Amino acid sequence: MIRKAVIPAAGFGTRFLPLTKAQPKEMLPIVDTPTIQLVVEEAVASGITDILMVIGKSKRAIEEHFDRNIELEQELQRKGKEKLLAQVQRISSMANIHFVWQKELNGLGDAVSYARSHVGNEPFALLLGDTVLESYSAEPVTKQLIHVFEKYNGSVVALEEVPLENVNRYGVLDGNETEKGVYRVSDFVEKPDPSEAPSNLAFAGRYVFTPDIFDFLIQTGRGKNNEIQLTDAMRSMAKCRPMFGCRFDGTRHDIGNKLEFIKTNIHYALKHSDLKGPLSVYLKELARSL
Ligand code: G1P
Repeated sequence: MIRKAVIPAAGFGTRFLPLTKAQPKEMLPIVDTPTIQLVVEEAVASGITDILMVIGKSKRAIEEHFDRNIELEQELQRKGKEKLLAQVQRISSMANIHFVWQKELNGLGDAVSYARSHVGNEPFALLLGDTVLESYSAEPVTKQLIHVFEKYNGSVVALEEVPLENVNRYGVLDGNETEKGVYRVSDFVEKPDPSEAPSNLAFAGRYVFTPDIFDFLIQTGRGKNNEIQLTDAMRSMAKCRPMFGCRFDGTRHDIGNKLEFIKTNIHYALKHSDLKGPLSVYLKELARSL
């Protein structure tokens, strides 16, 4: 049973400055919902009941979003806005949510290591707070990974096929497919040059780890960009533990990237019953003028 998840949300969000100077990129909206709320919803729908968020400077809005806002609740109640009230109350009751502050921004690996005492000796899911994964199956992507974890009894990373020229944005897998969509890992590379990439299967921001990942993180020195890279700890782990990749059934929306952010909003707005019609009319008009 995997019941704990860790959501790192501490990075500066430099690709989104100046917006991210005082605003967490994880709070960027997907139509009307912050990205990180969708990440929490995926975790909860995958059976997670306990979540630790690793946050940093300028991230207080995340804490407030998952806390109760009694005045707002009273106001919505007074005005009879029951549906909105239920939505607002649900956010603070979906899971047990805890926060820890990363003292210095030393990379994803460092952020994850802050979760050690909270996670203890259990396997856990890791979901990056700036990435929405849309599942094409009935199961959320984290749940798809949990199934692979339970079947193979080893840590699992979510993989997405990306165009080769984009591999330098991601961690990349070196390994062999053992069953459809499941890969046995031999190695990983963080943000390789396309000419040196072992594959075009890129990490997509979801992982399930056995707790010994923390032992490997402790031994990991600074790597790419002078940061402590989770991928480097995973490389050491893959040398002595079975590890797996799961090419999930779905697609990634990387909110930390401006173009992807805009496209994702259009994609989800077209699924909204009240926005679909007028937005389609606007997009068609726009397309004619391009
Ligand atoms: C991080 C990881 C990388 C992974 C990516 C997924 O990179 O280091 O391995 O592929 O997230 O979004 P970042 O986007 O923080 O540079």
